Amino acid sequence: MIIAPSLLAADYGRLAREAKRAGASRADWLHIDIMDGHFVPNLSFGPALVRTLRPLTRMFFDVHLMCSKPEILLEPFAGAGADQINIHVELGEHVTALLWKIRALGKKVGLAINPPTSIGLVQPYLHLIDTLLVMTVNPGFGGQEFIHEMLPKIQQAAAWRRERGLSFRISVDGGINFQTAVDCARAGADVFISGTTLFGRRSLAAAVRKMRKLVQAARPGAERAG
Ligand code: DX5
Ligand code: ZN
Repeated sequence: MIIAPSLLAADYGRLAREAKRAGASRADWLHIDIMDGHFVPNLSFGPALVRTLRPLTRMFFDVHLMCSKPEILLEPFAGAGADQINIHVELGEHVTALLWKIRALGKKVGLAINPPTSIGLVQPYLHLIDTLLVMTVNPGFGGQEFIHEMLPKIQQAAAWRRERGLSFRISVDGGINFQTAVDCARAGADVFISGTTLFGRRSLAAAVRKMRKLVQAARPGAERAG
């Protein structure tokens, strides 16, 4: 189980301190949203910020590219210190080449899917990826309401993973709070990306601990495993 605070909800006046706070919280990954003002109607961070934060923490940097032309950004983010790069399946014919390019750069490979997109679209890529990122809000902004209709998508992805003997992680992103994290864990998710709920707390460490405990107890098979 991976808990991944999302930097989008951090205090932008003190990002270095926020990155250190995330590292000290014992969260596993730092999720970093990159928005281009075209694929989504908002802007966020660039590779220079990732490069600045990289020496401040040993956390795994999970970079989420909500961008129409990720091909121009893969090398800059890889060089800046990303550990995993997620691109969107909505990019269609470019997806396979992008996934291979991320792999060739020596990074973990993530594929993201938006709420309106059918889960069937990711099926041809599942053997190529380390993480399937299921968006549980429409991307672009933090603090939105979790879309419950996404739970069957998580269940379907988990079923394919089982049936095909694959081991990609299923991450969920958007509106993840202590309750919706549990719902997603029951559906088969194993990476919980959360901005507002985690960074919004005075003690990020306590919030991370609480979310980890809840999702561990909720994950399929937890009762049997004891
Ligand atoms: C939304 C981003 C999310 C965002 C989630 O476009 O991809 O990573 O930070 O924020 P919360 O947890 O506040 O919904
Ligand atoms: Zn994200």
